[in-house]
Amino acid sequence: MKVFINKRIPEIGIQMLKESGLDVIIPENDNLSDDEWLKYCQNADVILSVGQHKYDKDFFEQCPDIKAIALFSVGFDSVDIEQANQRNIPIGNTPDVLSKATSDIAFLLMQSVARRASYNFQKVKDNDWGDFDPLHALGQELYGKTLGIFGLGRIGFEMAEKCKKAFDMNIIYHNRSHNDEAEKELGAKYVSFDELVAQSDVLSIHANFKNDQKALFNSSVFEKMKPNSIFINTARGGFHNQVELYNALIEKKIWGAGLDVTNPEPILHDDPILGLSNVCVLPHIGSATIEARNGMAKVAAENIIAFSKGEKMPHCANREVYKK
Ligand code: DGY
Repeated sequence: MKVFINKRIPEIGIQMLKESGLDVIIPENDNLSDDEWLKYCQNADVILSVGQHKYDKDFFEQCPDIKAIALFSVGFDSVDIEQANQRNIPIGNTPDVLSKATSDIAFLLMQSVARRASYNFQKVKDNDWGDFDPLHALGQELYGKTLGIFGLGRIGFEMAEKCKKAFDMNIIYHNRSHNDEAEKELGAKYVSFDELVAQSDVLSIHANFKNDQKALFNSSVFEKMKPNSIFINTARGGFHNQVELYNALIEKKIWGAGLDVTNPEPILHDDPILGLSNVCVLPHIGSATIEARNGMAKVAAENIIAFSKGEKMPHCANREVYKK
């Protein structure tokens, strides 16, 4: 079975695949053009997919021999799941192993914005340390404030737990369903979307992105947030309207924003949001730790190995395919 990996991943995953007797294909130069990438896909049985390639109807029509896709990510918004289901193609993903790393980044962004870390670091780099000024660029403390989580799954839970332990924050959340563990262990309270928006001092997104949630966080939402609130997005840039976020920030509808995901991605270098002192932007590094990336390589390999043996992928985004 031919497994195409479009970018080098940690060695542990590659070794596991090879030791299972799979034919692993990794291009020498892994900076492939779209056409080159498609050709590799057309010659493979399984793709271990790194990055945000789109797997839509067109793709599946152009690659009729693809039997499975193992994503090197927990998010699976790059795949048209309906199309994969119709073709009985399992889509593996990598939950759990990156929950700590990704929630660490949400936590880091929250603090960076609350204490204006990136603004102050920039000042130091600009040789503008400045005199002690009791009123300049003051941050805010998070003790006892309210953290609102949109999408309380594994990553959201980790974020909520850190905020509870570090700052004794009150946790509220909005989700498709109740999270009993978070309610029991963290005292998290389920609220409506409108309550989440109106009550959060920090609003952090941790949901899986779906197309009908495009720009869910837009001017009408920012309008209803608290003026002291901090907006954090480490999930997908598609969740927010970036122009309207910028406007909300300059009009002081909200206090600051921390983004590990942007819209578009990469962010345009002249996006005015980058010039704001109350914003911290990172280049989608939620899972960028040695531990998380090794874990992702292992889980992706496990998914493929299970599939190659005719077994269920241990982590499959479209479990429906196994019901047929
Ligand atoms: C994920 O795993 O979904 C990360 O955001 C990388 O795409």
